[in-house]
Amino acid sequence: MNKYLIFLLLLVVFSCQQKESATAELNLIPKPNSVETGSGNLDISTGFNIVAQNMESDTAENLLSYLKKTVTVSPSGKKLQLVLQPARASVPEPDEAYWLKVDKTGVRISAHSMAGLFYGVQSLIQLSENQTHIPFVKIEDAPRFAYRGLHIDASRHFVSLDFLKKQIDRMASLKLNRFHWHFTDGPGWRIEIKKYPKLTGIAAWRMEPTWKEWWNSGRKYVPEGTPGAYGGYYTQDEARELVRYAAERHITVIPEIEMPGHSEEVLAVYPHLSCTGKPYTSSEFCIGNEQTFEFLENVLTEIIDIFPSELIHVGGDEASREHWEKCPKCQARMKAEGLKDEAELQSYLITRIEKFMNSKGRRLLGWDEILDGGLAPDATVMSWRGEQGGIAAAQSGHDVVMTPGEFCYFDSYQANPGTQPEAIGGFLPIEKVYSYNPVPAVLSDEESKHILGVQANVWAEYIPSEKHMEYMIYPRLLALAEVAWTQPENKSWTDFRLRVNNAIPGLQQKGYNTFTLSDEVNFSHYADSAANAVSVTLSTEKAPVEIRYTTDGSQPNVQSPVYSEPVQVKDSATVTAQLFAGEKPLGKPVTRRFDYHKAIGKPVIYNIPVNQYYPAGGEKALVNGLMGGLSHGDGRWQGFMTNGMDVTIDLGSSQPIQSVSGRFMQSIGPWIWFPKEVVISVSDDNNTFTELVRVKNTVSEKETGTLFQNFGWQGATNARYIHYKAVPNGIKGGWVFVDEIVVW
Ligand code: ACM
Repeated sequence: MNKYLIFLLLLVVFSCQQKESATAELNLIPKPNSVETGSGNLDISTGFNIVAQNMESDTAENLLSYLKKTVTVSPSGKKLQLVLQPARASVPEPDEAYWLKVDKTGVRISAHSMAGLFYGVQSLIQLSENQTHIPFVKIEDAPRFAYRGLHIDASRHFVSLDFLKKQIDRMASLKLNRFHWHFTDGPGWRIEIKKYPKLTGIAAWRMEPTWKEWWNSGRKYVPEGTPGAYGGYYTQDEARELVRYAAERHITVIPEIEMPGHSEEVLAVYPHLSCTGKPYTSSEFCIGNEQTFEFLENVLTEIIDIFPSELIHVGGDEASREHWEKCPKCQARMKAEGLKDEAELQSYLITRIEKFMNSKGRRLLGWDEILDGGLAPDATVMSWRGEQGGIAAAQSGHDVVMTPGEFCYFDSYQANPGTQPEAIGGFLPIEKVYSYNPVPAVLSDEESKHILGVQANVWAEYIPSEKHMEYMIYPRLLALAEVAWTQPENKSWTDFRLRVNNAIPGLQQKGYNTFTLSDEVNFSHYADSAANAVSVTLSTEKAPVEIRYTTDGSQPNVQSPVYSEPVQVKDSATVTAQLFAGEKPLGKPVTRRFDYHKAIGKPVIYNIPVNQYYPAGGEKALVNGLMGGLSHGDGRWQGFMTNGMDVTIDLGSSQPIQSVSGRFMQSIGPWIWFPKEVVISVSDDNNTFTELVRVKNTVSEKETGTLFQNFGWQGATNARYIHYKAVPNGIKGGWVFVDEIVVW
């Protein structure tokens, strides 16, 4: 390589508010993997003298011009050396690693790649922001994962290029390196394709400004320019501009072209590509029709020309197979190709598209449904319906990006839904994001190498504005960044909590509309059968604060005990908890009642099996004392589909019973409703049952939000067996979710 030494002497001063603080805390996010602090600090109030070594002039220029945007030139300053040095063959060092040293002579950042130098610079910027001094420190750092992503859905609601650049800036600061641009989907096609002008001339526009109104009023499109139309799209030039902007920040933009489902907007304007040949009849391409392949390959040809990313996303999620079953062309294709079912038909499409992509030097990435019917030979899987898809793919030698809804879907509520703007459902507070480990324990070391990394997904059905989208992204993205970068042994929620609380004002100062972490106390608990008690854990997102609590129903005050370890509740008790910042109470006290009830740990006979995706840990889940949280996917709610739920609990001996109650959820975003009816009966021989009660649901199936309701019976009887049946409300594809059956 024609490398030569560039000796640039730039006198630069960091544009920061000059604060009086002598030494900055090491408030870095994501946390570096090795930090050694020295004693003393470097006065940076006079700025930096930048020396760039071993770089080719154009790459140096890139980094220096980026630095100059972040900093201000000044005639005097401390030395800031940026050194690109060859990797040592003897030591395996990741390509993106960097070394940063601050001592009395100045700052030295070295790396084997421009990306590494860029990340060293990001750490320095974070250390320097709003500071006049930075501590003497030695950092050796490298990412845990090569793929560190953020996905944004620009179809449900259009977001501007400026907004995306603003998010790319934050991604760079957080050392994230993949931006997944979801810009084709039913609610609007948003990328210019020169060969198919109707995609942006019609399919990008609708009369309803929100997804919800569009969804509930016919799901139609109108020509661009129709007075009052809502929509938008990116021209190819704009997309190229974003690709360039991101590349300057070492971020790859991955485009997603949805197929074969989520494509009603395409089929509305090019109806010959659907099985019926008519607009507004289907959201899936006809796979029996050669014109489908011609269309998709033409679109992908233009996409590949804009986006240099090796991985190109082809969707693949949530396709209905209904039309293919009835379509003569699809059935003929299946016969000709020897495909045994419609799942294999979908796999035929994906495999053929993969071949096309490979012929252009690119690789295919898709949601985990691309596993159904057989995975295309070289495909990378994005695992969103939990981790199962990712595990199966890794075990069969395929690369995987982990994005399970439970940990990575930022469209979920991040705090108590009662205090938040309407969201699609689910509950994903920042601590839960932070707790995620993208490498499932079941994978061997060899299989684990296929886990490329992790990504946050921001679906926008319930996110109608850019401000709202930032509110959903921040600060959760800071937690995801640390999941992606920092080795698990170096992560600590207690430590991160302090850093993220410190980081929020800085984000707001930069103009990001962040959620401010909740000052509610969070409760979690489990039935501790060894102690015959419920073990109650209290936690908070705020820091630095203390939690004080009582168990006698009184309000906590500064004399109440400070929470440090789980509180044991025998039988029944209420726990009231409140945050304190020193003597000052914060937020509102929260009270919960806990019961160690009669059915805990008893055998449960499933007359209808629980759905494989929502077993909540298995056959004791309904009687384990673990109440579900605000998310149906939190591993405590059992999910049942078509025939509802039907279980028998064996208490082991006939005994007095005063109440039986099951707790259900309704959350219509994820398609979960209260049961239509609950029937509770008892028996001593598990043969002849006496009905205790039939409870009819009175809550409307249209009721939104995340609702909880107990369906139960109270009275006096004796029994050994309790039969609890929940009849679903009959909505096709609807779920029944229950967390616990409580018996006293
Ligand atoms: C998805 O959330 N449908 C990938």
